[in-house]
Amino acid sequence: MASRYRDDLLRRIQSVSDIVDVVSQYLPLRKAGKSFKALCPFHQEKTPSFIVNPELQIFKCFGCGKGGDVFSFIMAYERVSFPEAVRIVAEKYGIEVKETEKDTRAEEEKSALFRVNRWAARIFKSYLWSEPGARALGYLTARGFSKQIIEDFSLGYAPPGWENLLREAKKRDISINLLEKAGLITGRSEKSGHYDRFRNRLIFPIQDAKKQVLGFGGRALGEDEPKYLNSPETAIFSKGSCLYGFPQAREAILAERRVALVEGYTDCLMAHEKGIKWVVATLGTALTPFQVRRLRRYADEAVLVFDADSAGVAASDRGLDIFLAEEMEGKVAVLTGGLDPCDFLQKEGAEGFLKLISEAREVFDWKLESFAARLDLDTARARNEVLQEMVRLLEETKSALSREMLIARSRFIQGICDRLGVSEEALRQRLRPRLPAGRRGGRRGSEAPPATGRDATAASPSRPLPQGRLAGLQRELLEVMLQGEAFTKSVVAAGGVSLFPDKDYQNLAEAIIRLYQEKGLLVFSDLMLALGEDAELKEMAVDMLEKGRKKGSLKRRLDDCLLGLRKEKEKRETAALKKRLIASAKAADEEEEKRLLREYQKRI
Ligand code: CTP
Ligand code: MN
Repeated sequence: MASRYRDDLLRRIQSVSDIVDVVSQYLPLRKAGKSFKALCPFHQEKTPSFIVNPELQIFKCFGCGKGGDVFSFIMAYERVSFPEAVRIVAEKYGIEVKETEKDTRAEEEKSALFRVNRWAARIFKSYLWSEPGARALGYLTARGFSKQIIEDFSLGYAPPGWENLLREAKKRDISINLLEKAGLITGRSEKSGHYDRFRNRLIFPIQDAKKQVLGFGGRALGEDEPKYLNSPETAIFSKGSCLYGFPQAREAILAERRVALVEGYTDCLMAHEKGIKWVVATLGTALTPFQVRRLRRYADEAVLVFDADSAGVAASDRGLDIFLAEEMEGKVAVLTGGLDPCDFLQKEGAEGFLKLISEAREVFDWKLESFAARLDLDTARARNEVLQEMVRLLEETKSALSREMLIARSRFIQGICDRLGVSEEALRQRLRPRLPAGRRGGRRGSEAPPATGRDATAASPSRPLPQGRLAGLQRELLEVMLQGEAFTKSVVAAGGVSLFPDKDYQNLAEAIIRLYQEKGLLVFSDLMLALGEDAELKEMAVDMLEKGRKKGSLKRRLDDCLLGLRKEKEKRETAALKKRLIASAKAADEEEEKRLLREYQKRI
């Protein structure tokens, strides 16, 4: 198993973790016999068909088929990779996961930056709440921010003067070098020496999910330019990878499964002030894939709130296409009347804001509509341009499935197709084909290569099963093998792995046989561990375990499958022999030909 973590560590995490415990941190589970039930988080349903089995430490949805062990659940729910899922589970149980040591130097520098930022944030905060900060605090209060919000977001203040922070740092023996690396001070260009970066500014600490301070935003209190000054890019801070207000919003985002994105610090603060806590800010820059992927772990839908000015820019910006590429539902709400979200919230209150959000349009529709609005659709040329833009947007989607969903969902596509006199089918034909989602190597996050051949539009998110009788026999045999180790013994005697021509089935059989040979028994959670990061294969195993249980006599099925598969194996061998025979004839290798012929005749 190619994994970043050592096997014994994985085993330890698995043995202390409890899938019921972990899953119930995400969904309410109800006891049902020996198992637990819930509404499946992976598809829409009204009656629960999502089962967690504490004995086997697996979950399975009988509605959509998703299943696996605790790591599979985290991978699917939080939409993370296997190593990341392992880390998340480990963290829940206080187990430290150490990766290879090579990055320790960089890690040390980062934690030094976090430390110095935490220290600086504390200093800024103490200034705000003491005499030098009186005016700044007054300003915040006058803008409608309560003490609670000012506290929750750890706002601070940097007084006027060139060396306030520097002086404090000297008292504490904090190195100049570190302060400079963190962007808290700047070197003087001509003379030697340094001075504070933030002077006479309100301070907005920018935190990560764990409330570690990544950097700072500073708003001028007077007419100083620029209005906002941020920390420079450091080893821990870059604008495109942080989301202001995330730690304060995290829980609400999880509960709502949606997130609203605004541009500014004050926009975000005001939303929280008004009790809408699932709001974060992007710091006035275009959204990055990194941010979208982060949010996708917590929310199913993101609503971008723009003022009318930014909306125009955003509409033509490729930044929003990220939602299509990352397969997250993105919506756009536009404020009118020259108000930004902060002003709007003060004027219209939470209710007005929620109403605005409820009227948000899908990114795809909104972008196309904005595009079309600039053109005169009575001309053929303009119509063609719209069509091209539509094709371009659709091609941003990574998987064929999400593209189909987009086409199905978009009211605009139908409307515009009618208007342009193009059928949906004609639109599809213009699209470059994509690989079906869920194929090996074509996973989320890795760019799918341009495919040749036909688009598999009905691609299921799981790995497609091989079809036909041979596949059925292999599947059935595996179902039997999963019911108890005794059956594996007979399978080994009958040829073992060589009975399984399909790669996935072969891998599963191999894992079962290896466990049987090593331990003499088959514990399902060991099998899950052995299959490691292959969430799809694990899902298949869970599925087979369940199916196998339901059908009739295991012994009869075992014998039938073995008989069938052995026959199939012989057929394959005979075919291979025949090929070699022909090759030897072509190569005029008489000796070989005779030998193969004898073998061949024995078989038929
Ligand atoms: N911003 C920035 N650097 C700038 C300008 C803006 O980082 N030089 C970011 C800040 O996060 C800011 C956001 O872009 O909050 C929006 O900018 P702007 O609309 O100018 O500020 P407001 O949020 O409206 O600030 P305020 O309400 O305090 O006037
Ligand atoms: Mn603004």
